[in-house]
Amino acid sequence: MSEKIIVKDIEEMSKLGANHMAKIIERSVKERGKCMIALSGGNTPKKLYERLASEEFSPRIPWESTYWFFGDERHVPPDHDDSNYKMSSDSLLSKVPIPNDNIHRIMTERQDPQTIALNYELTLMKAFNLAPGELPVFDLMFLGVGTDGHIASLFPHSESLYVTTQMATANKVPETETWRITMTFPVINEAKHLLFLVAGEEKAKALHQVLEGPSNPQEFPAQLVRQKRGFQLWLIEKSAASLLTQ
Ligand code: 6PG
Repeated sequence: MSEKIIVKDIEEMSKLGANHMAKIIERSVKERGKCMIALSGGNTPKKLYERLASEEFSPRIPWESTYWFFGDERHVPPDHDDSNYKMSSDSLLSKVPIPNDNIHRIMTERQDPQTIALNYELTLMKAFNLAPGELPVFDLMFLGVGTDGHIASLFPHSESLYVTTQMATANKVPETETWRITMTFPVINEAKHLLFLVAGEEKAKALHQVLEGPSNPQEFPAQLVRQKRGFQLWLIEKSAASLLTQ
């Protein structure tokens, strides 16, 4: 199941997105006593995270039953301006009463990127109490789309696109030769709810290719999202949607 909503601006995106997220958290906690959430980084989700932490939404969220993870992370310290953890903490995680143990950041200040990725796999196995070979099923996973059609840190023409034996892997950003750590498609495709946030004119071409173009996943990795179950909501700001025909 998938739905696309074209929103007029980031403000409307944050309101609809926060409401959608609050409902998923309430339902997951009611049904299973917990909600497992993987956040995306970059700029687009910031306003939504801030809104969820605001008086408009915060009082209704059972924060103590929410568990927070990261779809990807830059290979920088957690207090670095490029850190997805820092962005998420500054806009949401540090503003609401989430128990510290419920926040599972990717520990980027330790070893080399691949070891960090392996360590994050262990984090996922422990947090989800996984048997060997089992995959984590997130109740909600945020995803952004890059101007090149990437999601998380799964970049075009990168080996990470076809990693099926790891839940997390290290990947280089082609243009900057910098390292990222990213969840892989097997984990992404297990999620019960995917929430895509896409904004900006600069995303329009890639988004048109991802959603309406011919199959070309090497070039547009977001085409490799093939959710096994559940619901996929795309909140697309109107300039990013300007080339979509349906
Ligand atoms: C990251 C993200 C990445 C992001 C897209 C869109 O670490 O940057 O996880 O996948 O979602 O690149 O980024 P913007 O929201 O900044 O456009």
